[in-house]
Amino acid sequence: MPTNTRDLAGKTYVVTGANSGIGFEAAQDFAQRGATAILVCRSQARGQEAIDRIKLHTGNQDLHLYIADFGLLASVSAVADKIVSDFPVIHVLCNNAGGSNGTRSVSAEGFETTLATNHLSGFLLTQKLLPAIIKGGEQGLARIVFTSSYGHTHSPLNFDDLGLERDYKSLKAYGRSKLMNLLTAREVQRRYGEHNIVASSFHPGAVRTPIWGKGGPVARILGVVLYPFMVSIEKGADTMIWLSSSDDEASVQAEGDYFIKRTRTTPASFATDEAAQRLWQVSMDTVSPYF
Ligand SMILES: NC(=O)c1ccc[n+]([C@@H]2O[C@H](COP(=O)([O-])OP(=O)(O)OC[C@H]3O[C@@H](n4cnc5c(N)ncnc54)[C@H](OP(=O)(O)O)[C@@H]3O)[C@@H](O)[C@H]2O)c1
Repeated sequence: MPTNTRDLAGKTYVVTGANSGIGFEAAQDFAQRGATAILVCRSQARGQEAIDRIKLHTGNQDLHLYIADFGLLASVSAVADKIVSDFPVIHVLCNNAGGSNGTRSVSAEGFETTLATNHLSGFLLTQKLLPAIIKGGEQGLARIVFTSSYGHTHSPLNFDDLGLERDYKSLKAYGRSKLMNLLTAREVQRRYGEHNIVASSFHPGAVRTPIWGKGGPVARILGVVLYPFMVSIEKGADTMIWLSSSDDEASVQAEGDYFIKRTRTTPASFATDEAAQRLWQVSMDTVSPYF
């Protein structure tokens, strides 16, 4: 696997879901190369443990922990305010936190949990960090990377039932949320590319992370069946790290596209520009009360 050598000193990286799996791996790589790393995690204890491990491994002390529950937009909004107040210039945002849910549940704010955690929260965080990322773009290329999945090919969005009230299945909810990640990357690019921001999304592969044990029976069974074919966390994080930090032409020119193994890949036929624009509008209307 190619190594990443570019020095990231002076760059501020935000990684969500950074205490575990590919988010942890990426945050550690950015810290190793001298970045200021902001880890956004759900649990204070797990986040602090991640910070301690990265400090020990890299020697970088410029690590910062912020706590938010991505199941709740108010929590994400509050953490975004704190981050922007502490770090008015951000160069890279990795929207990575996510998971699946075996049964349908609805948050205290009234949103289906997978939709809220995997899409709405990252969307809101992106909106609220954009002024800082635009300032990052004034100092050199800024980037926003969304961890999507091949699971996005499951089925097209049904805009009349984004929360799957009528026919919830965990894989469907997960796949559609990952389609939303891919579409959001494309629309961020269309709207903000002129600010020297490049947005992209990627599929990490089937990766040996704790995610398979957290998402109910279907995820657990899939985790067991796929286990022998899964790739290491290091390999799973590679495309995220590359899209977030490489000088390679293909990474610098990612421009809203979807990648697998560092390769620009055609997404599902229903991942259209029209769906991206419609999703953006619906998502804006949904998150705007939490701004
Ligand atoms: N592993 C794969 O094969 C695979 C394949 C395709 C896509 N992905 C995507 O890759 C991303 C990272 O997953 P991973 O495989 O690295 O799994 P992971 O180790 O479970 O990491 C997921 C991260 O998201 C965080 N998270 C989940 N729900 C959250 C919430 N409500 N609020 C705040 N943080 C929350 C987790 O926090 P906790 O530690 O507190 O749970 C964890 O830090 C996810 O978006 C996933 O959909 C993974």
